[in-house]
Amino acid sequence: MRGIVLAGGTGSRLWPVTRAVSKQLLPVFDKPMIYYPLSVLVEAGVEEILIITTPQDRPLFVRLLGDGGQFGLRLSYAEQPRPEGIAQAFLLGADFVGDQPVALILGDNIFHGLGTQLDLSGELTGGRIFAYPVANPRDYGVVEFDRDGNVVSIEEKPVMPRSRHVVPGLYFYDHHVVDIARGLTPSARGELEITAVNEIYRRRGQLRVTVLDRGTAWLDTGTFEAMVQASEYVRVISERQGRKVGCLEEAVWRAGLIDNDQLRALARPLRHNGYGQYLEDLLTDASAVVP
Ligand code: G1P
Repeated sequence: MRGIVLAGGTGSRLWPVTRAVSKQLLPVFDKPMIYYPLSVLVEAGVEEILIITTPQDRPLFVRLLGDGGQFGLRLSYAEQPRPEGIAQAFLLGADFVGDQPVALILGDNIFHGLGTQLDLSGELTGGRIFAYPVANPRDYGVVEFDRDGNVVSIEEKPVMPRSRHVVPGLYFYDHHVVDIARGLTPSARGELEITAVNEIYRRRGQLRVTVLDRGTAWLDTGTFEAMVQASEYVRVISERQGRKVGCLEEAVWRAGLIDNDQLRALARPLRHNGYGQYLEDLLTDASAVVP
């Protein structure tokens, strides 16, 4: 399976902070935001990842992540000249997807505790998305279930939400998603909506929606307040457990994509703070063998 991180956008809701630097490079506590979605893809078993950025931010992402070789990953980059909707990712990434299933994750979505919910047993046909209850469903794609748990509708940012379950920015599709995206027309807000893609799969009877466990965290970073909350959440969990959240170096090591020596090499330049020490401790801490 291939993976795409959509990390474009103007970040205008966070101006002036994001005037000079991409939102997805801002820190969420102790690491750049994009580490979190990258770690999720790694946990889902993805090794080949396309990162979609604005043309001007691309060199900064390359400076941070390079070709991914140091992480045992294969990273490539594509530019999104103008943000024209999440589904545009499949037009920009059409060649990259090819005939493979694909996982798309939004570069500003923070997940924690997905665990086995990421296990896609068997072949992926159709679409596989998640639902999560939130207090402010109007800001998202809203899923309505009937009494038997079947999805009855999915609506993008409805004024009158039919439920509190919304769709987080993590989507799994078969390769037909590229053709589906090609057939979309822009919505009233001028975007190729991911909700329209999901609706097409739903009408075909090929959309599986799993409600995420209550213990799973899905955090937004769309406002200054949400950014602080996400950082604070990560700080509280990491300090309590002594385990980092969204630590890309740890994720690739646990996935067996890098060996102990490679982890040591990643830790070395970070020795001046607790981050590098944490990575080195993974190699000696017996409790670290438990995921
Ligand atoms: C987008 C999608 C929406 C989804 C949300 C998740 O919203 O359009 O369906 O629920 O991401 O973060 P937007 O980023 O356009 O507000």
